[in-house]
Amino acid sequence: MKGRFITLEGGEGTGKSTQIKLLAEWLNRCGVETVLTKEPGGTPIGRELRQMLCTGDKDKFDAVAEALLYYADRRIHMQQKVLPALADGQWVISDRFADSTMAYQYYGYNKRVPKQMLEQLYAMTVGEFYPDLTIILDLDPRIGLERSLQRNGAAEVKETRHESRGNEFHQNLRRGFLEIAQTSPRYVVVNADQSIEQLHHDIVKIVEERLLKP
Ligand code: TMP
Repeated sequence: MKGRFITLEGGEGTGKSTQIKLLAEWLNRCGVETVLTKEPGGTPIGRELRQMLCTGDKDKFDAVAEALLYYADRRIHMQQKVLPALADGQWVISDRFADSTMAYQYYGYNKRVPKQMLEQLYAMTVGEFYPDLTIILDLDPRIGLERSLQRNGAAEVKETRHESRGNEFHQNLRRGFLEIAQTSPRYVVVNADQSIEQLHHDIVKIVEERLLKP
C-alpha cells in the first residue's frame, strides 16, 4: 500500500498528541503501519531546535527568525524521517507541519511577516509536496491555553514560549487556521471541544472516508 501523510493542526491544548496516538492505534488495527512524528522535534537535531523555539523568553528572537528555524526543522524532518517512511509504504502522522508556520508566524503575529516569504520557504525546503490530509482541531483558545498551561505546570521543561503570547495572538491564530482551511480540499476542520472519544470517532470517520475507502 502507498504511504500517506496525515497532519494534525490547531492551537495550543487542542488535544492533537492524544488524538494522533489514538489514530495510529486504530490504523494499526486496520493493518496500516504508521510512523508518529511531530514538528518541531521529529528528529534528534529537531529536538535541539524545539528547545530553542519553545522555551525561554517569547521575545528572544522575532517571527522571521522563528519561521527560518521552523523551516530548518521541517527540512531535516522531511529528509530524515517523513520521506524515507513514505517511500517505505508507511503512513506518517505528524503533530503539526507547515500550516502551523502560516498560522503562528503569519496570522498569529497579525500578518507582520510577509506571507510570500513563508510560501517561498515552503517551495525551497519542501517543494511540490503536500500532506494527503490535514485535520485542523478547532477550539476556543481560552480553553486550549488553560489545558496547555496546566500540562506545562507539571512538566520539567516548560514549553510555554508561545503560550505566553496574549489573547489577541491566539485568537488571530484560530482565525488563521480557519482561513487556511478554506484554501484546499485537503483540510478538514473538527470541533475539538468534545470528549476524547467523540473527537477520535470524528477523526476516524474522516480518515476512513478520505483515505481508506476504495
Ligand atoms: P506543540 O508540541 O504544543 O505543538 O508545540 C510546538 C509549538 O511551536 C507550539 O507553540 C506551536 C509552535 N509552532 C510554530 O509557532 N510554528 C511552527 O511552524 C510549528 C511547527 C510550531
